[in-house]
Amino acid sequence: MELFNENSKLASVILKDYSLLPVINRLGIQLGFGDKTIRDICNENGIDLNFFVETINVFHYEAYFPEKRLLDFPVTIVIDYLVKTHQYYVNYLMPENDRLIELFLSANPEESPENELVRKFYAKFKEEFVIHINFEESVMFPYILELNRVIENPDSSMQFRLKYPDYSISGFEKEHSHMDDKMDDLKNIIIKYLPPNYDQNRGNAFLSNLFLFEKDLKNHSRIEDHILIPKVKQLEMVLQNHD
Ligand SMILES: [Fe+2]
Ligand SMILES: [Fe+2]
Repeated sequence: MELFNENSKLASVILKDYSLLPVINRLGIQLGFGDKTIRDICNENGIDLNFFVETINVFHYEAYFPEKRLLDFPVTIVIDYLVKTHQYYVNYLMPENDRLIELFLSANPEESPENELVRKFYAKFKEEFVIHINFEESVMFPYILELNRVIENPDSSMQFRLKYPDYSISGFEKEHSHMDDKMDDLKNIIIKYLPPNYDQNRGNAFLSNLFLFEKDLKNHSRIEDHILIPKVKQLEMVLQNHD
């Protein structure tokens, strides 16, 4: 496993793995960087070099997970990345899925009754997905950011304790379901059971987008479960030790 490093040219990284395109965008980089190395690009754009390198490696190599190094990053950088990822899902991948699923399901004027089942599964997936993201952004992330502020500024700890008397990430952890599992049902129905009387190319286009989505989501959840939550547990320990 040859990892990318700060001396890698970003253009070669993208040529090797184009699924990193949205990842570098979320990290604050747009195309058109010539032959510059990751180090130069991060310096020019004020991006944390180590976080950039670790994130693209985590995304590119499923077996690579440098938990210790990633735990060193400020929680604010991790949350910023996660929120940008949510925005990418909500503003781009999901609408793209909506468009592609309708293109393929309605291509044939004689729709099979199973199409309705696919639509239902998709609608259910979407609904749960939106709930999941809303929960993280309106409950979980604000809690983490406040906890982090208290650690940086212990004067405000009274306020924090009043707001979160039983502060603990464990409750959120239990509720943190795996969205990518839900995507599997949808994929299986289409691949195994849906009568193929639809436009094959459009069906493939929808599935390709779903696979792309799944890969991105898996990495997103890995970062939440293996970086963010352990990091929050560390912060909670620090606060407890202040008691
Ligand atoms: Fe998330
Ligand atoms: Fe999540």
